Amino acid sequence: RIVSSSEVEQSYIMIKPDGVQRGLVGDIISRFEKKGFLLKGLKLFQCPKDLAQEHYKDLKDKPFFPKLIDYITSGPVVCMAWEGDGVVASARKLIGATNPLQAEPGTIRGDLAVQTGRNVVHGSDSPDNGKREIGAVLHRVTALLQIFFVFVICS
Ligand code: TYD
Repeated sequence: RIVSSSEVEQSYIMIKPDGVQRGLVGDIISRFEKKGFLLKGLKLFQCPKDLAQEHYKDLKDKPFFPKLIDYITSGPVVCMAWEGDGVVASARKLIGATNPLQAEPGTIRGDLAVQTGRNVVHGSDSPDNGKREIGAVLHRVTALLQIFFVFVICS
């Protein structure tokens, strides 16, 4: 279950469909665990198109936006809430530069990816966005569960 806490800094980390398909989930989680952050929630999730558009709304005028949405919705993603002091900035360092060819060796993108459009993992860029992004997924997962229970009760 993904939990949202207003007290402690949290980052929304999402393993993108290529990371899941390539079997990199364990490696990526392990890096955050070894660093010492706390895993507060995790969900394998097929991201609906409108949530992907909302998640990347700041990029909606970029030429790569339609391809980005197709990619994020092309298969399941692993959504996670990671907690700890300074987790947002630290996670961005662990993840590395947006373009994996410019990401330092030792970072997730530097070690595991080649293309910007297939860069394996997302990490929030500010504590406020961390809260907002975790809240958006939590809200959607809760809504899906409610629909599921209504379906079970009615059938
Ligand atoms: P951005 O928020 O700039 O980078 P980051 O993920 O490092 O915070 O961009 C979001 C995603 O958009 C990025 O991870 C991959 C995709 N993207 C492209 O496909 N092409 C591009 O030229 C850029 C800048 C990003």
